[in-house]
Amino acid sequence: MAIQRTFSIIKPDATRRNLTGAINAKFEAAGLRIVAQKRIQLTLAQAEAFYAVHSERPFFGELTEFMASAPIVAQILEGEDAIRKNREVMGATNPAEAEEGTIRKEFALSIGENSVHGSDAPETAAVEMAFFFSGLEIAG
Ligand code: CMP
Repeated sequence: MAIQRTFSIIKPDATRRNLTGAINAKFEAAGLRIVAQKRIQLTLAQAEAFYAVHSERPFFGELTEFMASAPIVAQILEGEDAIRKNREVMGATNPAEAEEGTIRKEFALSIGENSVHGSDAPETAAVEMAFFFSGLEIAG
């Protein structure tokens, strides 16, 4: 597997509890390099645009209001097999099902307030990276 990039978000529940560094340490320990990173607060419209694929889900309102409720940290992570590796480090969406040592097992509060987002495939990674970052903002 070649070097790959994936998109990651540290969510409002984690930034509120000052967990950015602890979560970044997990990424780095797993061999993922943070090649771009910025802390921003999304508007509700921006959160709705980012999660548009979920617009028909019953939790869409809750999800987008939560994502706009406090700052997030948007990131690009790079490494060998980065998409799969990041999903492994994050753990299952529902923290009750996440494995020991994963970010969600250690830090997530609930299925909604689950501390991190990570792209699920190369196509979504490309779209999500472009949503948040221009070429000039990626260090390599
Ligand atoms: P994420 O990887 O950011 O992608 C979509 C998000 O929807 C997911 O993480 C969860 O945080 C959220 N989500 C999924 N299922 C539920 C649910 N049943 N209730 C609230 N939020 C959910």
